[in-house]
Amino acid sequence: MHIDIITCLPNLVASPFSDSILKRAQSKGIVEVDIIDLRAYATNKHRTTDDYAFGGGAGMVMLIEPIDNCITALKAKRQYDDIIYTSPDGERLTQSMANELSLKQNLIILCGHYKGVDERVREHLVTREISIGDYVLSGGELAAAVIADSVIRLIPGVLSDETSALSDSFQDDLIAPPVYTRPAEYKGWKVPDVLLSGHQAKIEAWRHEQSLERTRKKRPELLKKGDL
Ligand code: ADE
Repeated sequence: MHIDIITCLPNLVASPFSDSILKRAQSKGIVEVDIIDLRAYATNKHRTTDDYAFGGGAGMVMLIEPIDNCITALKAKRQYDDIIYTSPDGERLTQSMANELSLKQNLIILCGHYKGVDERVREHLVTREISIGDYVLSGGELAAAVIADSVIRLIPGVLSDETSALSDSFQDDLIAPPVYTRPAEYKGWKVPDVLLSGHQAKIEAWRHEQSLERTRKKRPELLKKGDL
């Protein structure tokens, strides 16, 4: 997979990709992430990427021209499955959306900033708008990193134990069961006996029951009718 992240603040996006799982996914050659500085595509003499809004009002608006130039240059190199714009009023990111995006080959993520982009970018240049939740961030950079992380970790080979992505919370619309590690008893607080029993079928049944129980308590809206 190849992901291009277009931003006017490249430093803000870079760090999540230079550590741990996302770094390893790149060094294994499973994913390539390019962080592209939108300023390089600015055409005016001050290399600005924003301007005042027509009609007045507070806040700057991202110019269409640098964005169009940047996307055009990228499209000359490869075909993109989706050109995503990060915005609080976009479609809400979910695990099933991450699953769907993890099957794509090439993605662009355009980070919104200030008051957002000139509306014509949304009308003509992007194919999808994604929000990571109903709150407003200072910019789309952190949202882009969240989207990319949720997608990249699902690509086969990225996690060393492939089943660990499959057993994540939300993967089957259930919250993941509790996990424990050594010591088996700490300050009198014990690990459930079943986990120490070595009886794999019983352990799996216990985990499933715990998932249902937790989902009923914490996120009942996730449960399908048959699970209740
Ligand atoms: N930009 C600002 N807030 C955002 C959000 N919640 N999701 C995606 N992009 C954003």
